[in-house]
Amino acid sequence: MTAALVSAPWFSAGEISAAEPSKVDFARDIQPIFTKRCFECHGPDKQKNDLRLDRKADALRGGKSGKPLFLAGKSAESELIARVTSQDPDEVMPAKGERLRPEQIDALRAWIDQGGIWPDEKKHWAFIKPARPGLPAVKSKRWPRNEIDHFILARLESEKLSPAPEADRATLIRRLSLDLTGLPPTIEEVDAFVKDKSQEAYENLVDRLLASPHYGEHITRWWLDLARYADSNGYQVDLARSMWPYRQWVIDALNRTCRSINLRLSSSPVTSCPTPPSIRKSPPVSTAIPSPMMKAAVMTRNIEPKR
Ligand code: HEC
Repeated sequence: MTAALVSAPWFSAGEISAAEPSKVDFARDIQPIFTKRCFECHGPDKQKNDLRLDRKADALRGGKSGKPLFLAGKSAESELIARVTSQDPDEVMPAKGERLRPEQIDALRAWIDQGGIWPDEKKHWAFIKPARPGLPAVKSKRWPRNEIDHFILARLESEKLSPAPEADRATLIRRLSLDLTGLPPTIEEVDAFVKDKSQEAYENLVDRLLASPHYGEHITRWWLDLARYADSNGYQVDLARSMWPYRQWVIDALNRTCRSINLRLSSSPVTSCPTPPSIRKSPPVSTAIPSPMMKAAVMTRNIEPKR
C-alpha cells in the first residue's frame, strides 16, 4: 500500500512522508487491539485453541495448530495477519463481531515487519518489593512533620499551591473515625479528643481506632470487594450460606494486624495470623481453595496495618 502511494504522482512530498509507516509501539498500538478484540476468547479467562494473547510467552508460542503467532519481519507469512485478513468467515479473527479496521491491520503488519517487538512484561506492583525513595526537596521547611508530608508539599509547591490550614479537633476525629472504622465518633469521644492537649493526642487516637474491632470490619470490605466476596449467593433464594468464615477470617487477620495475610506465598510462617478456614487441611487447590480467597490473599499481601 505504501508503494502505491509513493508511486502516485499527485501526492505532494509532505503527504508521502506522512504515509510512511512510523515506529509501532506495542503498548500504544498493538496491545489495545488484542485487549479490545481478542481477549474475550484469547485472554485471561478463555483461551480458544489454547491461544493466549495477554501473556508474551504464551502468545508467541501460538495456539493448538502449532503455528507461531507471527514470524518477526515477515508479516505476509504470519498466522496473525492471515487470520485478521482472511476472507473465509470460518477463519477470520475476531471470530465474532466486526472485522478489524484497515488501520488496525496495517498497525499489526507494520509491527511484525519492524521486528514484532513485545517488551517484557513488568512485574505486577504487588510482587515488587517496595523501596524507600529519597525525600523530595521543599521550600517551606517548617510545614512537613513527617516524610510523607515532604511528598505532599513538594507536589503542592510544584503546582504553586499552599497547604490548607489544619482542621479543628472535632473535624479531625470525625474524619479519622470514618476513615478507619467507617463509623462517626460518639459525642464523648469528640469531647475527650478536643480536651486532650497532649502532644500525642492524634497518634493515640489513631492507635485507639486501629485497635477497634470496627477497624477490621471496615477495612476488610475493600479486600472482599476486590475478591468479589458476597454474603449472598446473588440472583437466587439464599438458603444456608457458608461463606461467612472467609469474611470473618479476613476481619480477624486485619484486627490481629497480621503483617501479611499470606496463604502460601511466603515461606516464613506468620505465627500471629489465623490460618484461613479451608487451607487448614491442605485440600487440593482446585476444589477447596476458593479462588476469590486466593485473590484476596494476593491483594492483601501488600497491606501493612499499623502496629
Ligand atoms: C469470539 C471468540 C474469538 C475472538 C474474539 C477471537 N478469536 Fe481467535 N479463535 C477463536 C476460536 C474459536 C479459534 C479456534 C478455531 C479456529 O482456529 O478458527 C481461534 C483461533 C485463533 C488462532 C489460531 C490459533 C492456533 O490454533 O494456532 C489465531 C492466531 C487467532 N484465533 C487469533 C485471534 C486474534 C488475533 C484475535 C483478535 C483480533 C482473535 N483471534 C479473536 C475465537 C476467537
